[in-house]
Amino acid sequence: MISLKEKYADYFKIGVCANTKTIVSHEDLIKAHFNSLTCENEMKYIRLSQKQGEYTFSDADQMVDFAKKNHMLVRGHNFVWHNQTPQYIFENTDKESLLNTLRNHIELINNRYKDSIYCWDVVNEGIEDKTEEYLRDTPWKRILGEHYMEDVFRIAKEIMPDKQLFYNDYNEICEPKITKIIKAVTELLNKGVPIDGVGMQFHIHFDTDCERIEKALERYAKLGLRIHITEMDVSLYKSDEERFTEPPKKRLEQQAEVYGKAFKIFRDYKDVVDSVTLWGVADDVNWLDNFPVRNRKNWPLLFDIDHNPKEAFERITQF
Ligand code: GLA
Repeated sequence: MISLKEKYADYFKIGVCANTKTIVSHEDLIKAHFNSLTCENEMKYIRLSQKQGEYTFSDADQMVDFAKKNHMLVRGHNFVWHNQTPQYIFENTDKESLLNTLRNHIELINNRYKDSIYCWDVVNEGIEDKTEEYLRDTPWKRILGEHYMEDVFRIAKEIMPDKQLFYNDYNEICEPKITKIIKAVTELLNKGVPIDGVGMQFHIHFDTDCERIEKALERYAKLGLRIHITEMDVSLYKSDEERFTEPPKKRLEQQAEVYGKAFKIFRDYKDVVDSVTLWGVADDVNWLDNFPVRNRKNWPLLFDIDHNPKEAFERITQF
């Protein structure tokens, strides 16, 4: 079988999201096809530190060891997010002391993994997409103020001058989010804030309009930053009401079409796209089985539940 990472060697890194279980259960596929690794949860704030003054690195260590052993790069994910962040850091604090807490957190992690991690999602999902508001209302924003991204990127770069720093978000190819993200990043750039790239999560579905992908890439590319596709999957559902027990053939075909077209666009933008990461290895284990509807099977990835390549895999390797 063709190896994805070999097929794409002249284009970009092919990444995968995994966890301490899937690096065992899906080891063969990961080794054969991927040269970049993102931890599904193991490097998120709450997984590293549940209580004040307590840090647990064993799971993150396992992931980094696996990556090293298999010559994979590691994308760091993530530092500042409204989810999976321990409440204690926001209690009895003010701007200065929260920035200090964050500084200590980044220093600790960077000291441990600086040889293994080459880039970080510094801010994840900071833009609002449900209301007219510009920034998402989070404890970070409430305590640090409207310009918190600026402070956070500056601190991160001070500690990690040699790492590429990213802003990462979802719905990034849809209005009004795309315009808001571009505005936020442009503002940072105009102020000389050290940001190196934009992470486009790419949680899309089988009926995604690929022209929209093309237009989005065109706009992000103009920022002059690096682009990483960070969390790609292609859901077989378009609404919460649908539910299949087997993947419908027609949808798998449409999914393959979307994967094929999206990867063609990524290849066309290879001068700015450095990395494309799939949010999971194979359809037997994927987060969309429980999101946005709990306990509803989904088949969003390149390999099927038996770890065989799907039509989508064929489409992205035939060029
Ligand atoms: C977001 C986060 C990821 C992950 C997914 C769901 O996209 O950035 O870390 O939690 O949601 O799996």
